[in-house]
Amino acid sequence: MTILASNDELISTAKEAGVLRIGINRPDKLNAITPQMYADMVAALQQAEEDSEVRVVLIHGSDTCFTSGNDLLDFAEHPPTGEDSPVFQFLIAISRATKPLVAAVNGPAVGIGTTMLLHCDLVYAGEATKLQTPFVNLGLCPEAASSLLLPRLIGYPRAAEMLLLGQPMDADTACAAGLVNGVFSTSKLFPHALAQAQLLAKQPPAAVRLAKHLLRKNSAAGVPEVIVEECQYFMERLSTPEAAEAFKAFFENRAADFSQFN
Ligand code: COA
Repeated sequence: MTILASNDELISTAKEAGVLRIGINRPDKLNAITPQMYADMVAALQQAEEDSEVRVVLIHGSDTCFTSGNDLLDFAEHPPTGEDSPVFQFLIAISRATKPLVAAVNGPAVGIGTTMLLHCDLVYAGEATKLQTPFVNLGLCPEAASSLLLPRLIGYPRAAEMLLLGQPMDADTACAAGLVNGVFSTSKLFPHALAQAQLLAKQPPAAVRLAKHLLRKNSAAGVPEVIVEECQYFMERLSTPEAAEAFKAFFENRAADFSQFN
């Protein structure tokens, strides 16, 4: 089943039966996210907050790729400079969403492709899912409050493997670790995620929002402060020689060499 919208918008939205779908749709760059795409997702999340017909948000990529994360070329050429940057605004919006967020993930879910899942309420993974947070590999640091939420969710040792080594986690491991709700074949993933979103949309909406608030109140305590702190370090790191070498290596299709740094 193809889950992409038929239009050529890089962020597609569609509202049906109480579910607002937000689709990441840039297949030629493995759904790498640009500032405009972040801004479009912020607008969609705001629409979800304000539109009483929307009861649930379903975030998805394509059948084969969720997202390869921030657009690295864009990051190198136009790094975010402050809290008004679209990526930061997106993190604020997704972390503050009051309506339930469901995600359907398959293939690469890199960087923010993994960390945004920490702010979703239900996450369904395709069998080809690879979650990866290679911030340190890029000379950067964790974002989206992942330095807080990931160890809280899956324990420090596994979080350290993901955040210090950037090692990918497959769908079954992510499910066993508690990062995702279930694993599905590619053809069954989106129908299942949509069916769960539609079930949620039929629940009493105020009770759902209250339950989400109570569920997140403790588990997400400290998140806004950590998002800001990580964001400040992240922006500083973008202009370091370590990051320059990592980005150059990616676009030269070679392994990065950090041996000269101390
Ligand atoms: N930003 C910009 N372009 C990206 C990208 C990104 N995050 N991820 C992939 N692309 C582009 C590649 O440059 C390539 O473009 P080209 O065909 O014009 O050369 C295209 O998408 C396909 O990527 P490719 O690397 O050839 O695919 P792959 O299947 O071999 O590898 C990944 C998939 C996800 C492992 C690999 O693309 C990758 O590591 N991407 C970077 C992920 C990342 O570090 N994200 C940022 C985290 S903060």
